[in-house]
Amino acid sequence: MINLVVIKMSQWKLLVLLSLLTISQCNSEIPSFLKICHRSDLHLNECVKHSVEAIKPHLRVGIKELNIPSCEPLKISKINISQSSPTIAVKFVSTNILIKGGTHFVLKKVNIDFDKNQIELKIFFPRLSMTSDYDINGRIMMIPIRGQGQSQGNFSEINADIMIQGERYENNIDKKIYFRIKDVLTYFDVGHANMSLDNSFNRDKTLALGMNTFLRDNWKTVAVDMKPAIGNSIADLVKKYTEEIFSKYPLDLLLPL
Ligand SMILES: *[C@@H]1O[C@H](CO)[C@@H](O)[C@H](O)[C@H]1NC(C)=O
Ligand SMILES: *[C@@H]1O[C@H](CO)[C@@H](O)[C@H](O)[C@H]1NC(C)=O
Ligand SMILES: *[C@@H]1O[C@H](CO)[C@@H](O)[C@H](O)[C@H]1NC(C)=O
Repeated sequence: MINLVVIKMSQWKLLVLLSLLTISQCNSEIPSFLKICHRSDLHLNECVKHSVEAIKPHLRVGIKELNIPSCEPLKISKINISQSSPTIAVKFVSTNILIKGGTHFVLKKVNIDFDKNQIELKIFFPRLSMTSDYDINGRIMMIPIRGQGQSQGNFSEINADIMIQGERYENNIDKKIYFRIKDVLTYFDVGHANMSLDNSFNRDKTLALGMNTFLRDNWKTVAVDMKPAIGNSIADLVKKYTEEIFSKYPLDLLLPL
């Protein structure tokens, strides 16, 4: 109504108003490579899939606008894995972790349930390789293990299922509705793995040798036992990276009607 009056009164005033609006919205403008999908789109899931595909090359170099650093290699400062099961009771602390291959993922499925605030992702990684410093303390198959050094591992054909449960909230500052993550559930499966631990910070070389033989022969058991801890680390990463996007743009901008 007011706009109509303005148009009749003088068109240039409206133009000034519009350009002011445009300028004030510049800061929260979505980067052009973030492909916008509409929630009413019948093929919403396909659209989001393409949108994520379009971000992939940018993840390799990092996205300054979203505070996302280069993900190739992906740097993680620390992962703590505490596990106790009949076969393994260890505390494994990895630091200075570098993961290569993470951006070569294939997004196999996206399923968004807008009303339930749920996002389901199925992601395939053909191959990941990882290096880190480690400190291990515990027992594996009743054998006491203690050591520090560098670890190296290769993992192939990794299938990850990620379930995100989110919620909507009103931002105090702009009074708009945003999306944030409440819970992330991950399930993953590793086709094959090679792991080796060197013992550079220890004198006892036979221990490292035994450890590596054990890992070579039992990686599947170890991987299964460590799954919950690794799953939690993946969940933390998903949360950290997607929150850079979700906290920055209101839902109506990210997923307009
Ligand atoms: C990880 O383990 C180290 C060494 O045991 C400990 O000092 C640190 O507080 C732990 N960090 C977390 C986040 O659990
Ligand atoms: C592990 O090593 C074996 C033999 O050295 C190799 O055939 C296999 O491809 C490796 N697996 C990974 C995930 O690198
Ligand atoms: C992982 O793969 C790299 C390159 O293919 C290889 O040099 C390294 O020995 C492998 N690591 C293990 C633990 O087999």
